[in-house]
Amino acid sequence: MNTNSFIFQTNVQGQYRTKWKAPSNIALVKYWGKYGEQLPENPSISFTLSQCFTNTEVSFSEREPGGVAFDFLFEQKKQPEFYPKIQKFMERITTYFPALKRHHLSISSHNSFPHSSGVASSASAMAALALCIVDFEKQFHSDLTEEAFLQKASFLARLGSGSAARSIAGPLTIWGYTKAFSQSNDHYAIAPSVEWHPIFLDYQDTILIVDKGQKKVSSTLGHALMQDHPFATQRFEQAHKNLGEFKRVLIAGDLERFIDLVESEALCLHAMMMTSNPHFVLMQPNTLSIIEKVEDFRLQTQLPICFTLDAGANVHLLYPLQHRIPIIDFIREELVIHCQKGQYIEDQVGNGAKKILV
Ligand code: DP6
Repeated sequence: MNTNSFIFQTNVQGQYRTKWKAPSNIALVKYWGKYGEQLPENPSISFTLSQCFTNTEVSFSEREPGGVAFDFLFEQKKQPEFYPKIQKFMERITTYFPALKRHHLSISSHNSFPHSSGVASSASAMAALALCIVDFEKQFHSDLTEEAFLQKASFLARLGSGSAARSIAGPLTIWGYTKAFSQSNDHYAIAPSVEWHPIFLDYQDTILIVDKGQKKVSSTLGHALMQDHPFATQRFEQAHKNLGEFKRVLIAGDLERFIDLVESEALCLHAMMMTSNPHFVLMQPNTLSIIEKVEDFRLQTQLPICFTLDAGANVHLLYPLQHRIPIIDFIREELVIHCQKGQYIEDQVGNGAKKILV
């Protein structure tokens, strides 16, 4: 793909203020391994969430040309630990948004979920920031279609954090080239107009907070571990194959196969981390207790609940809305004891980012 098409020939100038709400997402096929400038080694697919989101407001003001310039408030406070990631993101995207060299950005961000909950916030945060930036650009580009707007937002978000590319649209997004979806590519995520089975459109994701601490492995290090990984080739092939199968499963509503695939992807992600050099065991005793209880509960009740994991100890439980009541009862009675401070977050599939009037 010629990425020059993302450099719009427009003279963006003046003051502008905008605010966007971008959701988090949970991957069904996991992105683990990258190359080049934030390009994925394998395609991934995720559910867009709705209750876990970041709200970001940006005020752009014109200044003397130079490097990137911004100030940043998170939850109304200056939090310098976030600056390097934002700085790097802005430097990376300047090629695609040259007006950054002539504007100061005042950024203020808020998460709907506690930052220290162990729920990854970089996806929603980078997506919200990217949307504010493309929104500014759009003011000088009246013929920008909705599709081109979303593509560029996903493209920029990816340069901040790979999984952020999937936090723009919904209910399901695919990032990375796969022969299963004709528009798919490594540069931005797509939300194909496929008739997904309706059961998935309000699918539930209850996030059990097993560990609220800092990530043991940064995503940068984690992805790098796939470079000389002994099982890398097989893993990338498996992800391609699983993605193709997910397409059928998500259209047909085949919950039995959905469960097999989701759990296999989660365990495979952790298997990659456990067999890399250095290795990381990110599951904790409580993670395993939850997995065991979920499997027993599924066997006893025949309810279609399954688990998935990101690069940490927390467990996402996925299940259809129609079974929410018995499953929430089960979570409260059996699983909350495995959560740090009894914390869990109830979320469900959503439709993507939204502009908020300021
Ligand atoms: C395990 O998107 O956090 O959550 O591109 O380095 O920012 P960077 O990585 P990041 O990786 C997420 C990996 C994952 C799986 C996934 O969401 O697909």
